[in-house]
Amino acid sequence: MGSGPVGFAALTWPVRTRRTSLRPVAPEDRDAVHAYRGREDVTTYLGRGPMSPSDVDERIAENLERSRPGHPRPLLGLVIEVEGAVVGDCMVRFEPDDNGMRTAFIGYTLHPASAGRGLATEVAEALVRLCFTELGVAMVQADVFVPNVASQRVLEKVGLRRIGVTTAGSEGGGHPRMDDYLYAVTAAEWAASRSS
Ligand SMILES: CC(C)(COP(=O)(O)OP(=O)(O)OC[C@H]1O[C@@H](n2cnc3c(N)ncnc32)[C@H](O)[C@@H]1OP(=O)(O)O)[C@@H](O)C(=O)NCCC(=O)NCCS
Repeated sequence: MGSGPVGFAALTWPVRTRRTSLRPVAPEDRDAVHAYRGREDVTTYLGRGPMSPSDVDERIAENLERSRPGHPRPLLGLVIEVEGAVVGDCMVRFEPDDNGMRTAFIGYTLHPASAGRGLATEVAEALVRLCFTELGVAMVQADVFVPNVASQRVLEKVGLRRIGVTTAGSEGGGHPRMDDYLYAVTAAEWAASRSS
């Protein structure tokens, strides 16, 4: 499991959750993405500060580049749509190891107007499922700044558990370094939680 190329191309879109629809980000999503990634309050606990429209263009181009087959740092960048409107984005990023085991990191960001309704939990659940059922992932991880309690709650609700803390570990973009929790769930733990 996990030793072949990352199979993004075999996925079919959109991936649907109860209320959301996930699909690969496209250049036309720039303004909708900038509407939240340009905000200070959204980026407080992200790795980088507010983005300009051209930063968003660059991010989308990088996402598309990294989703191509054979990229050494594979990443799948998706937008989250509700009733046809982009309300956030999410990603799966791969960290292949020397043994051919595939670890994936997940992340998600919502426009504040769409937060507080359980949408991030739906999306995180779908990302974890995608990793284990379609992408041959052995372990799903996420890192989250210690003060970001809402995101920690999301991870716990979808079955990840806290496995460690890195002191002031993350390189923020314009933010001071903060302590970082690492969360994880293995394929076996996830399968067991679904059968219980
Ligand atoms: C963090 C974020 C993804 C949460 O999205 P959301 O859709 O509001 O999340 P959900 O509604 O699915 O779940 C949030 C949970 O955190 C809880 N929560 C929210 N704020 C909280 C706080 N300050 N303290 C404790 N719990 C809190 C909610 O009650 C809910 O838990 P519950 O279902 O047990 O009640 C969203 O606010 C966001 O995009 N923030 C900016 C970007 C970001 O931080 N991304 C994550 C980077 S790791």
